[in-house]
Amino acid sequence: MTTQAHAGVATAGHGHESGTAGDWGAAEVPFPVARTSAPRARPDEAALGFGALFTDHMFLMEYAEGAGWHGGRLEAYRPLVIDPAAAVLHYAQAVFDGLKAFKGVDGRVRLFRPQAHVRRLAELARRLSIPALDEGVALRSLVELVRLERDWAPTAPGTALYARPTIIATEPFLGVRAAREYLYFVILSPVGAYFPEGLRPVRIKVEEARVRAAPGGLGGAKTGANYAASLLAGEEARQEGYSQVLWLDATEHRYLEEVGAMNLMVRIGDEVVTPPLSGTILPGVTRDSALTLLREWGIPVRERPVAMAEVLRAARDGTLREVWGTGTAAVVAPVGELTYRDERVTVNDGETGPLARRLYGALTAIQYGAAPDTYGWTVAV
Ligand code: COI
Repeated sequence: MTTQAHAGVATAGHGHESGTAGDWGAAEVPFPVARTSAPRARPDEAALGFGALFTDHMFLMEYAEGAGWHGGRLEAYRPLVIDPAAAVLHYAQAVFDGLKAFKGVDGRVRLFRPQAHVRRLAELARRLSIPALDEGVALRSLVELVRLERDWAPTAPGTALYARPTIIATEPFLGVRAAREYLYFVILSPVGAYFPEGLRPVRIKVEEARVRAAPGGLGGAKTGANYAASLLAGEEARQEGYSQVLWLDATEHRYLEEVGAMNLMVRIGDEVVTPPLSGTILPGVTRDSALTLLREWGIPVRERPVAMAEVLRAARDGTLREVWGTGTAAVVAPVGELTYRDERVTVNDGETGPLARRLYGALTAIQYGAAPDTYGWTVAV
């Protein structure tokens, strides 16, 4: 297993992640299950949207100083009871992740790169001073919950079961320090396309005034504060007719960072360039998967700072070929238009480019079990 360390954040390399759920924790006693007494009807797959519906059960586990993480169990999905003084509600001490399980063409349900996601959750928890959660335990929580809920995995193309593992500081204490009590929970949401546009290219505003994350800050962590910091600029962009903002670096406002909540890739000439994992952007698992496939296909890929001026220059001289975002939710989201100050750049005539389409096709084929999983990315439950 290869790992790359960037500013204290390790990301998934590739290889040897696959298997069946039985390969992990086979010797472990499964978590206890208290089934719901009121199972709900399955939703209409055509109207799923993203993240608005949840399955019948959830995973819960607590941490207390001295006792460590304990009490892992599966229960009926329910609201949390939380003290109004809980640290997370005041100081945002929390971390989460997002990954998907897919109902395959063969009817089996597979999680996509769950080991990479639990590793990221464990690494990023440290940045929020959250006590380490064993990766094996986190993996079992996902596998056992998805297995219990596998009937909830939708079957229509583009749909999936989205898992949201989350850790929050629950200690009721208003002093500013790392909490001594936490809750880890996992919920599942049957989802359709993240963007109503689907694989249709989106219009993007390059944000100059506000920043998402600064060097040394939380930008590399999947924590609510980053998303809260992004909301106002996103709202303003939507009012102006854009789908998302493209974030620039916090220091010079010159270099590309992320697009919306996704990593960003730009195809200039024969090369694909993407901002490096310098600590201000998320170490995306889809980013890593896309880079792996691009390299396999012999496409030159470089992880290096990409200046907005370079993108504008490439647009003017005709070498800007494609721009897309990568993320778990949308997989690949093509960008059709970028507006920077008063300059509007149309990318690939506003159409989805061939490489973005190929990546989307190749990643989803692996996810749905329609193509060989040569990197061992999927785990059947
Ligand atoms: C993704 O999966 O692409 C994201 O990061 C968005 C998610 C927070 C909904």
